[in-house]
Amino acid sequence: MGNIKIFDTTLRDGEQSPGCSMNIKEKIEMARHLELLKVDIIEAGFAAASQGDFNAVKSVAKEINSTCVASLSRALTKDIDSSWEAVKYAKYPRIHVFIATSDIHMEYKLEKKPAEVLEQATEMVRYAKKYCEDIEFSAEDASRSDPKFLCRVFERVIKAGATVINIPDTVGYSAPEEFAALIRYLRENVGGMDKVDVSVHCHDDLGLAVANSLAAVKAGANQIECTINGIGERAGNAALEELVMNLKTRRDYYDADCNVDTKQIYKGSRLLTGITGVKVQPNKSIVGENAFAHESGIHQHGMLANKKTYEIMTPESIGLNENKMVLGKHSGRHAFNERVRDLGFNIEIDKSDELFKQFKALADKKKTMSDRDIEALIRDTIIKDTPELYKLESYVINTGNTITPTSSISLVGSNGERVEKVAIGFGPVDASFNAINEIVGLPIQLDEYSIDAVTEGRDAQGEVSVKIKSDGKAAKGYGLSTDVIEASIKAYINAIDNLLIAI
Ligand code: KIV
Ligand code: ZN
Repeated sequence: MGNIKIFDTTLRDGEQSPGCSMNIKEKIEMARHLELLKVDIIEAGFAAASQGDFNAVKSVAKEINSTCVASLSRALTKDIDSSWEAVKYAKYPRIHVFIATSDIHMEYKLEKKPAEVLEQATEMVRYAKKYCEDIEFSAEDASRSDPKFLCRVFERVIKAGATVINIPDTVGYSAPEEFAALIRYLRENVGGMDKVDVSVHCHDDLGLAVANSLAAVKAGANQIECTINGIGERAGNAALEELVMNLKTRRDYYDADCNVDTKQIYKGSRLLTGITGVKVQPNKSIVGENAFAHESGIHQHGMLANKKTYEIMTPESIGLNENKMVLGKHSGRHAFNERVRDLGFNIEIDKSDELFKQFKALADKKKTMSDRDIEALIRDTIIKDTPELYKLESYVINTGNTITPTSSISLVGSNGERVEKVAIGFGPVDASFNAINEIVGLPIQLDEYSIDAVTEGRDAQGEVSVKIKSDGKAAKGYGLSTDVIEASIKAYINAIDNLLIAI
């Protein structure tokens, strides 16, 4: 039985998708969870892209002990230098070098002849090898490249020291049988291919990223690149949860397995959703709200008679629905800390005191506390964790269907000064945001606003995410409260804090 390495690129390709950018704290939190999930490689970012990316890769490299940490680089010495400077702190570092090999990319993007690309790829792999033993080489747009040219490039970079050869379907163009045939062809025709890991990296433009990756496994690939919830450029990358559960559920067919701890899958998906605010559709395979829900009478009857009638994998296998004690206002610190750990969070002692205080305050308002409530509190209290430049002191709203909504907001700035402003708006939230704009005195544009109930029930907490822009700079904010207007105000203030810190 083959062992398939899972290379997670949520923090790199995933983060490139609109609305999915993460700050350093969020990336570290995500990376910790990926380690718990037992993926084999974490691609922590593209160190040369910006100072922020560099710092994030370096922090992840320092934080992670048991998993390989990779940084992406174009085939340029300056990119490889940055990658190494960031990733050298990892226990198992990898430099990932890429260059495009398709005619269209070479001619129009790189403006280079194939012979020049061949030289550059070889030289840069040799250059990276001076720093690091573990070198991955990717031929961008491989599925639209001339297979004979690919053979020449791969053979040369293997000789120069590449230990992993990655074959991306960069634009999601391939069909499963065609992609499998390409992998087979390369395995048979590239000298030295049997000495390296053969990896695939598929995008989902035609909805075939997972199918193409699995077809490649059947053809002998032993590393798959993927992201949690399938986030990534354009239509996204192959979804980690789908790949892993295919391998686990159909081990008989694929004759392969992987090291991932499937019980951490659901938590990973929820953590990413919480951090980015980008939700998964309810019918999404494995992690969607309805993935294990049986609605029709016939199905329910079958499930009651024997779960295997309609269930090919259990919700417990991805970490859902385990029988747990219900937590409430009488729960003690020990049970609470244990649940937080169970949810996959590793929280420092001083922060855990604050979190427990918040938990008690909320438990006083709500009848029962679900895991989702606790996750939301962690997002609000721990992950958000921006220094508060503005603190909400009070708000008073006057609204109705026959009057113009008015909001009076009082904020305390970081200098201790209290400022109060009154504004009107289309609704109470708009009026509140207008009042806050007057206090901070910035031209702020609201790009996105979303509100969600954390759980069912009338006492549910409202979770608000906002994205704002000012002078070309963007920031996001998060707010949580049983009062949706308060949650909105908190989210807006948090976004302004993030914006001011970034400036
Ligand atoms: O899609 C792609 O080709 C990539 C490479 C850089 C691996 O993301
Ligand atoms: Zn990609």
